[in-house]
Amino acid sequence: MRVVVTGGAGFVGSHVAAYLAERGFKVVAVDNLERASAVRRLEEVGVSLVVGDVRFVDLPPAEAVVHAAAYINVEESWERPYEYMWNNAAATARIAKQCAKTSTRLIYISSAAVYGEPQHLPINENHPTRPLSPYGLSKLAGEQVAQMLAPGAAVLRLFNVYGPGQTGPYAGVVSKFIERAKGSLPPVIYGDGTQTRDFVHVADVARFVEVVLDRGAAGVFNVGTGRSVSIRELATIVMRLAGLGGEPLYAPPRPGDIKHSVADVTKAKLLGWQPQIPLEEGLRELWTTW
Ligand SMILES: NC(=O)c1ccc[n+]([C@@H]2O[C@H](COP(=O)([O-])OP(=O)(O)OC[C@H]3O[C@@H](n4cnc5c(N)ncnc54)[C@H](O)[C@@H]3O)[C@@H](O)[C@H]2O)c1
Repeated sequence: MRVVVTGGAGFVGSHVAAYLAERGFKVVAVDNLERASAVRRLEEVGVSLVVGDVRFVDLPPAEAVVHAAAYINVEESWERPYEYMWNNAAATARIAKQCAKTSTRLIYISSAAVYGEPQHLPINENHPTRPLSPYGLSKLAGEQVAQMLAPGAAVLRLFNVYGPGQTGPYAGVVSKFIERAKGSLPPVIYGDGTQTRDFVHVADVARFVEVVLDRGAAGVFNVGTGRSVSIRELATIVMRLAGLGGEPLYAPPRPGDIKHSVADVTKAKLLGWQPQIPLEEGLRELWTTW
């Protein structure tokens, strides 16, 4: 099966592209390289890269498109809401329309940010969607336009993804903690650290994309682990791996940060998928290969 992965030179997209290629899919990555971090990963597995901007170019022909290209920074989205809506939502309309016209399956990579403040935990796919940032709103609009214009689209709401190659100013908390620990510095925790998240390894995300492709699954799926981990716990694990004594540093909470987030992944599991990488193992691997 020929699969196009947009944002294929980014963190999530490159892992998905490389994994699918290793599994025998014919993969083409499309990325405008504006925020690419992983061109090398594609080269290593021989995935071809088309340099193009999904706002402007038509995608190469394929049986399926995994649309992961997006701007992903919540703070930046408050500064540049128009660009976020354009790149994450309007560009998705373009892709969805092209998919519908060419009978191409669309897998839209979305985010748990669409849920906003949890009304109940764990968060299942029927939880209300009230995003708290222009980023979350742009991802929700992307989901809706994908489903409206490309019926049968699959929407994957990723929780906190971590894994090799997540670097740079927009990296998640896992990479930030490890990066500091590599410099023998304690993690910086915003707030009191009792806030919880659901950390899913990027390899488990890639495996789920394959399951969705194999099963021809449509509709919305949470992609997490169902395990709730506090930021303090995460800091403790990273400090233990690094052999760091002492305590983490604490900074004021970040405005707009939700207190708790954990996925109900029952629906994804019904497709036969299971997250396979426990957090401690994923972190150990990340620490040793950093
Ligand atoms: N990383 C996470 O924890 C996480 C969590 C939830 C959802 N997601 C979603 O996963 C997807 C990928 O995120 P990521 O963490 O890999 O981000 P990333 O910034 O590493 O990758 C995004 C890639 O998309 C490319 N891109 C952006 N706009 C483009 C455009 N107009 N045309 C072509 N390429 C473009 C960038 O150059 C970059 O390579 C996003 O849709 C994001 O919303 C990520």
